[in-house]
Amino acid sequence: MVHLVRISHGQATLCSRYVKTNKSLIEDQLKSFIVPNVIGGMLEIGPFLARGALFLARVVSGHYDATKGIGVANTNLAFLGNRLYALCESDLPYEIKTRDDGDIITLGHDDFDGKLVMNMTAHPKIDPETKEAFSFRYWATHPYLAYFRFDANGNKQSDVPIFSMNTPYLTHDLAITKKHAIICDIQLGADPMNMIRGGRLVDVDPTKIPRIGVLPRYAEDESGMKWFEVPGFNIFHAVNAWDETDEDGNDVVVLVAPNIKSVEQFLEQTDQIHPSMEKVKVNVGTGVVSRETLSSDNLEFPVINPAYVAKRNKYVYAAFFEKRAIKSKIMTATWVVKLDIEEPEENAGPRDHTVGHRVYGNNCYGGEPFFIAREP
Ligand SMILES: [Fe+2]
Repeated sequence: MVHLVRISHGQATLCSRYVKTNKSLIEDQLKSFIVPNVIGGMLEIGPFLARGALFLARVVSGHYDATKGIGVANTNLAFLGNRLYALCESDLPYEIKTRDDGDIITLGHDDFDGKLVMNMTAHPKIDPETKEAFSFRYWATHPYLAYFRFDANGNKQSDVPIFSMNTPYLTHDLAITKKHAIICDIQLGADPMNMIRGGRLVDVDPTKIPRIGVLPRYAEDESGMKWFEVPGFNIFHAVNAWDETDEDGNDVVVLVAPNIKSVEQFLEQTDQIHPSMEKVKVNVGTGVVSRETLSSDNLEFPVINPAYVAKRNKYVYAAFFEKRAIKSKIMTATWVVKLDIEEPEENAGPRDHTVGHRVYGNNCYGGEPFFIAREP
C-alpha cells in the first residue's frame, strides 16, 4: 500500500491505495491467495510445495499469466527517469502516478521495452548528480545475479551477468560510489537444491564466507569484478558508499551498512536478529579489509540525505529496535536514531557514533525513516 501525505497551506491530506499488481488483481477476483510467498512460505516445506504445485497448475492451464507478474510492490518507491515506481524484488517495477486531487493510481508494470526480465531489486541507487539509477536482479537460475543501470531518462541499459556468484543468495540491496558498484554475497540463500536435499528453500549456509564484490560502475561485463571475503558480514541494506585513496594511490571503497550479527535468526525469530552499524573499508589495490562498528545498537532500515548517495556523508538515520522479544516475531522499531559516521578525532579511539534519537512513545512503533531535506 502506498501512502501519500500532502501538507499545504496549513492543511494535511492523506491518501492510501494498494498498488494494483497482477497478483493482487487476480487474487481479488478469486478472493483467495494463490501465489506462493517464497519468503513467508518457506518455513513449512509441505504447505509451500502444495501451494506451489497448485499455482503451477493454474499457470499451465492458462488461468494465471505469470509473465504479467507474480509479486507484490510493497518495499520501496523510486524514480527511474521521471517516472515513479513501486518496487519489490519479486516482480517488475509498477509505475504509479499521483493525481492533482491527491489520489494515487497504478499505471501498470514496466519491462522497459522488454529489456527487464522478471524482477529487480527494490533498492536501486540514484546518483543525485547524473540522475542515473544503478540496480540488479537476482534469481534462482545461473547466472544468479545481473547488474544493470538506467540512464537519466529511465532507459534500461544492458545486463551485466555476474557468473562468479556460484549459488543463489538473497541479495537485497547494493551500494554505489562514483567509480564502483558494490554487491554483497551473504550467507542467506534461496537454493532450490535445498528442497531436493529435504531442507528449506531459503536457508543460511554456515560454511559460506560472505563476500563484498566491487565492480566498475560502468562495467559492460564482470571482468573487472573483485571479490573480498569479509567473515560474518551479512547485510540486507546498504547505507551508502564512497571512494577514497590510500597513501600509495590505491582505490579504497568505504561501505556503511547494518550488519546482521545473528543471520540464522532471520527465518524463525526475526525479533531476535541483531543488526549493528558498520563501516567497512575495502582496499581494492591491496585486498586489505578493515572494519569499524559505528553503533552496536539494534539498528536497521538506514537512510541518508539522498543528495549524498555515492559520496562521503556525515549523518545516517536508522530505526532502533528494542532488544526484548516481542510476540509478533517481527522487528518493531521504537526509536529513530541519528549517527555521525565521520572518523573519530585522531587518537580518540573507537566511539559510539550515535548523536541523537527520538522515541516514538508508548505503544507507538515506526518503520523505515524517510529523509526529507529542508533545502533540497
Ligand atoms: Fe529493503
